[in-house]
Amino acid sequence: MGKDVIIACDFDSAEKTFTFLDRFTGRKPFVKIGMELYYAEGPAIVREIKRRGHKIFLDLKLHDIPNTVKKAMAVLSNLDVDICNLHAAGTKRMMEAALEGLTRPDGSRPLLIAVTQLTSTDQEALEKDLWIEKPMDQVVMHYARNARDAGLDGVVCSPLEAGKVHEACGADFLTVTPGVRFADGDAGDQKRVMTPAEAKKIGSDYIVVGRPITAAADPVAAYERCVAEFVD
Ligand code: C5P
Repeated sequence: MGKDVIIACDFDSAEKTFTFLDRFTGRKPFVKIGMELYYAEGPAIVREIKRRGHKIFLDLKLHDIPNTVKKAMAVLSNLDVDICNLHAAGTKRMMEAALEGLTRPDGSRPLLIAVTQLTSTDQEALEKDLWIEKPMDQVVMHYARNARDAGLDGVVCSPLEAGKVHEACGADFLTVTPGVRFADGDAGDQKRVMTPAEAKKIGSDYIVVGRPITAAADPVAAYERCVAEFVD
């Protein structure tokens, strides 16, 4: 898969999601389904969005004992999503088990990427809450290398980290980056942001864009602007 823009469909119902997606009569965007929508509507929403011709990143961030994650991944694999994810903090063994669960009898599987450290975790929380006394960027790179060593396809990271992740883990190791804003847009609660054009320059493989598209007066135009800056 090449570079693409993934729209974060952070809605709490199928109705709102389809009202939004129905606007896209041309190119069918790659969409991210997160916990909110999945817990509200269940696997049926994944099947329906797939049936409508969208690629899907199912962002459920699994983190449990290896056997449980393996079995859960086998179920997600049957939903025929394109990308799913987990927390690298679950250990290499958990990530390897996840890959086993995800792999179908014919050897095919969705891409699997890892969350390293959530961008909501700062250095202080890392040290005080998690008791990890290392600089954040070193922790992120260590987790990214663990994910690569376990056989995963990439990580979710800040666009500011994408270049370093590629240096540490190889050019083919995917970087999927939220925290994207237009130069003339509102950053909202995102602290460290980049424009789609900057994310492209630094080497992000996929950008995940929510409110700059979902809350835009013309979401299709905002999506096309992202594609023009990031992909074309
Ligand atoms: O609306 P906005 O563009 O900020 O949406 C970004 C999306 O990416 C949201 O679904 C958010 O949960 C997700 N995300 C993030 N930062 C991370 C991981 C995921 O913003 N580190």
